[in-house]
Amino acid sequence: MQQAIAILDSGVGGLTVVKEVMRQLPQEKIIYFGDTARSPYGPRAASEVRLFTRQIVDYLLQFNPKMIVIACNTATAVAIEDIRARVSIPVVGVITPGARAAIKTTRSGIIGVIGTDGTIRSQAYENALKMISPDIRVYSQACPLLAPFVERGLFHVDSAYRVVEQSLQPLIGKPIDCLILGCTHYPFLMESISQVMGPQVNLISSAEETARDISTILSQRALLTPSSEVPIHQFFCSGAPDIFKQIAQSWLREHISFLPVVWQVP
Ligand code: SIN
Repeated sequence: MQQAIAILDSGVGGLTVVKEVMRQLPQEKIIYFGDTARSPYGPRAASEVRLFTRQIVDYLLQFNPKMIVIACNTATAVAIEDIRARVSIPVVGVITPGARAAIKTTRSGIIGVIGTDGTIRSQAYENALKMISPDIRVYSQACPLLAPFVERGLFHVDSAYRVVEQSLQPLIGKPIDCLILGCTHYPFLMESISQVMGPQVNLISSAEETARDISTILSQRALLTPSSEVPIHQFFCSGAPDIFKQIAQSWLREHISFLPVVWQVP
């Protein structure tokens, strides 16, 4: 049986990574878990996010995946080392790939980062950026209102634009030439973020670079699925399935046969 890549997030945000994995590695089977019943993770204590991440990983391990992808910045920031210590398969997060993509793009060496309270408080992006390039300057801004908007499917409405505008206000006029979307939910709001920041600021989503990392690691370990395979993906969410299904289908824009299964989280 084809071994899957297991991808998890606090909710629908990780679908931005799923879309990119489907594009770069169309033969790979994906098992996705969105913890929509307990989203958002951003305002939660690090210990709680670690516990939730462990619970989801334990759930996903029953499917015998070949890799775990933590497609949630908040969980990557506080739980990735814990998960790596607990499982024997590769574990990929979204922060190092996002930081690497920004370093490749910036010309001025001055980078903005937006994320949840938890991600910004952890300074995970700042650390990852400075690890790659110690002289980089970083302006970080928590935007706690954005992920809940996306979870409700409200990314095209006027009120979403106003919340984006208000959330990004502290970064307007800062000399940044790149803005890391340090939450996998934010690419859903790309249009509004781009309008608010203006064309001089490149928006960096970690999805593309994360999918590249996934491909490299699978290839190094001879775990890539032959290109002749046609995968059947599986999606799970812990909360109401209707809104999840609606967002997933409109974002992924392809017919995939799936039925979100509601898992009663402990
Ligand atoms: C959240 O659940 O608050 C957002 C998830 C993320 O940080 O990517």
